[in-house]
Amino acid sequence: MLDRMAAGRIPAKHHIVARDEDGALLHEEAHTRNGFDGPYTLMYHRHEPHRHTAWRLSERYGWSRAERAPDETERPLLRRHFKSFELPQTDRAPIEARTPIVFNNDIVVTILRPGASDPVYFANGDGDDLYFVQKGGGTLRSVLGDLEFTEKDYIYVPRALKHRFVLPEDTEQYWLHFEIRNELFVPKQWRTPVGQLRMDAPYCHRDFTRPTFRGYLDEGLRTVVMKREDRFTEFDFAHTPLDVVGWDGAAYPFLFPILNFQPRAGLVHLPPDWHGTFAFKGGIVCSFVPRVVDFHEEAIPCPYPHEAVHCDEILFYSEGNFVSRRGISSGSVSFHPAGVMHGPHPGAYEASIGHRRTDELAVMMDTFAPLHVTRQARELEDEDYHASWCP
Ligand SMILES: [Fe+2]
Repeated sequence: MLDRMAAGRIPAKHHIVARDEDGALLHEEAHTRNGFDGPYTLMYHRHEPHRHTAWRLSERYGWSRAERAPDETERPLLRRHFKSFELPQTDRAPIEARTPIVFNNDIVVTILRPGASDPVYFANGDGDDLYFVQKGGGTLRSVLGDLEFTEKDYIYVPRALKHRFVLPEDTEQYWLHFEIRNELFVPKQWRTPVGQLRMDAPYCHRDFTRPTFRGYLDEGLRTVVMKREDRFTEFDFAHTPLDVVGWDGAAYPFLFPILNFQPRAGLVHLPPDWHGTFAFKGGIVCSFVPRVVDFHEEAIPCPYPHEAVHCDEILFYSEGNFVSRRGISSGSVSFHPAGVMHGPHPGAYEASIGHRRTDELAVMMDTFAPLHVTRQARELEDEDYHASWCP
């Protein structure tokens, strides 16, 4: 998705004989996206990657499918606030510790509060995963290498790539998660015709961390859990699934620290597109990071009241002084449906005049298809939020 990488032992051409240092034949795995038209990665395994010994519907691993709250269709259109910070830290692994908040056919948004390492490898056949680490850190261990992540990192995991999270003990973890059912990509306007990130893009290739390949690794784990249509299936192997000795390609996991995003400021307020970080079919993910604000003498830095009539909007408040909204705190998730006008809290518009910078840190997602609120999100809802706009 960024550019081609190569690691470990690979032959001179695709699909030819490859051997390890002892002369044993290696087994190629072609991991292809969009049929055979998209980015791809070729891996070289010591064992046949498709030969498993057992399979079964999983009764131990997985999380609840996102389903609409039963009372949603009877409720009026409202501005919503979900207090995700009320979700307790758990002692469960990431593959189990997810709470769905909103969803549509293009995306599922969940919150994770994991407290243990994944005891199996996981491959998400339902989409690309994008995490935002509000608190915590650890290792994303994948068949293509390791990524050490920390607070305020985005973690990207391509669809169906085998991986697990290895977490330190006694560390609070609090992650926002987007399951992107089609494909995550860098917005096209940030690319040159050959795919390089443009010099005027809000990030460059150096801002991304790529996996560190550690070669063959046997952690004693033999099970891969695959998810497809929210059904979790376990596959057992006779060998470690992390038996890759080399790979090359453009489908691999990476990190992007949100504070590496280079924000823009204008003479007057710029629309959210300028904060666009990742895109997907049906929406965009934006990063709002600390920055100077608009520099016209009479600029109003607070966002103007607006109604983006085609987009539902989710905002995850990470850190900072959220001047435009009272009652919001770190970990708040606001949801503003398309067409329902929203903007600064009463008084915030005037109060922002003359401000020269903001220290807000937030992740926003706009979708074109309507988002549905889950039963679990209803349990976290601030019922007074909508009325707070109309004192
Ligand atoms: Fe908005």
